[in-house]
Amino acid sequence: MSQTLKQAYDWLMRPALEHVCALGPVMKQRTRLLPRAEGLVLEPGVGTGLNLPLYDPDKVKSVIGIDPSAPYLEMARKRASEAPVPVELVQGTAEKLPLEDNSVDTVLLTYTGCSIPDLDAALAEFRRVLKPSGRVLLCEHGRAREPRVQKVQDLLNPVWRPLAGGCNLNRNIAEKLQEAGFAIEHMENFYMLPRPKFLSWLYFGSARPR
Ligand SMILES: C[S@@+](CC[C@H](N)C(=O)[O-])C[C@H]1O[C@@H](n2cnc3c(N)ncnc32)[C@H](O)[C@@H]1O
Repeated sequence: MSQTLKQAYDWLMRPALEHVCALGPVMKQRTRLLPRAEGLVLEPGVGTGLNLPLYDPDKVKSVIGIDPSAPYLEMARKRASEAPVPVELVQGTAEKLPLEDNSVDTVLLTYTGCSIPDLDAALAEFRRVLKPSGRVLLCEHGRAREPRVQKVQDLLNPVWRPLAGGCNLNRNIAEKLQEAGFAIEHMENFYMLPRPKFLSWLYFGSARPR
């Protein structure tokens, strides 16, 4: 998809993204995860900035939000101006971060690992920019544990991905983190919603550089 077409698609998708990503069960997981962020936070795929009001100013020094989508960033800018912590927003991609090595305390990922085209490259970047004492905090949907749900995810993925802005249904986020040199510190797996199961399996937790 050309850049212009992608931006037009994002303009059209923005209300739907805002609606789905702000549903009660989705927000509930954000409110569990966000208080764990500390120091300098990198939020790749910041989207429309739904997390920005939830950062704890007693623990977070500032947030750098990165996203390739101009329409989403426009909405994030409004939320940034009212956020309880300083926020810098950058148009860019997680695969090529404009940040120094060992400079970030927290990488915060919510509902984004599914959409980053080259997740391995992005995870390598997170590893590079995180301080050795830093951590990745994540709440991501992905590959379910039940084989019959996995089959549905594999079957639907080629149709779903182009229709849903590049969202993949079947990524095993915990495995990807470990392959990229992270040790899982804490991981909860559960269905966020009873249905649809193929979209609801969550990876909620944290990982540290090994
Ligand atoms: C489902 S939205 C989630 C947005 C936000 N994290 C949230 O929790 O509301 C997925 C986001 O990933 C972003 N994205 C897609 N490709 C990306 C990339 N290569 N690097 C960083 N973000 C990307 C999209 O623009 C979109 O904002």
